[in-house]
Amino acid sequence: MLEIKNLSFRVEDENGETDILKNLSLTIADHKFVVITGPNGGGKTTLAKAVMGITAPTGGTILWNGTDITHMPVTERARLGVSYGFQQPPRFKGIKVRDLLELASGNEALSHEEGCQYLTRVGLCANDYIDREVDASLSGGELKRIEIATILARKTGLMIFDEPEAGIDLWSFAKLTDTFRRLQENRRSTLLIISHQERIIDLADEIVMISDGSVAQHGPKDEIFPKILANTVTGCTYMREGDVQ
Ligand SMILES: Nc1ncnc2c1ncn2[C@@H]1O[C@H](COP(=O)(O)OP(=O)(O)OP(=O)(O)O)[C@@H](O)[C@H]1O
Ligand SMILES: [Mg+2]
Repeated sequence: MLEIKNLSFRVEDENGETDILKNLSLTIADHKFVVITGPNGGGKTTLAKAVMGITAPTGGTILWNGTDITHMPVTERARLGVSYGFQQPPRFKGIKVRDLLELASGNEALSHEEGCQYLTRVGLCANDYIDREVDASLSGGELKRIEIATILARKTGLMIFDEPEAGIDLWSFAKLTDTFRRLQENRRSTLLIISHQERIIDLADEIVMISDGSVAQHGPKDEIFPKILANTVTGCTYMREGDVQ
């Protein structure tokens, strides 16, 4: 179980202090497929990075299976079964796709066949990519899919994907949606997927709407999704009706 309690993230710059996460609390039961959505800048990526340990929260606690991981380094969280796919994945010059998949799966003897299967699940033509370097020569969409493949290879207890659809073409997106559907059916891991895509949101058991650093809505898909479609749970406090001529 993932328990996030009163999480806050405050930053300071020349304009003063800003609260990016505001006492955010959220509990996710095991083996749930949860989609986090909400307006740009609401704090979704900040929350995901805090769970992975890339961003240090300024208050609150994060428990994973009862263990307080709030101040643990990324590597230790990874050992406890937490994985995160960046909204914008990093590149690794000198490392091949095959090496990344081997590292991720923890299987030094990962067969060509197995490596290729992970790539196929994200819509990549495996033989074309398995020996490519994870460097600047890969397009944004290729890189994104390779990173998703490495998370699939890790098979951790908690998988967090940050906008897996971003920059991915329609055909690969269909493949990726199938892969997520299978993960949802298998129920071996808890999945937290940050997404704005209707077809991914539609797979969710639960939807969390994050807006302005807090949880605006959290509940079963059937309850929250119609509200999102009817556009009644977002809303900008600055641009009111009548502001636009
Ligand atoms: N280190 C930081 N310093 C200052 N502002 C920050 C910092 N990190 C995040 N922010 C701001 O916090 C807000 C939330 O950012 P975050 O990336 O979490 O949003 P998001 O919900 O993932 O948005 P999107 O849907 O666009 O990906 C944004 O306004 C962002 O500019
Ligand atoms: Mg984001």
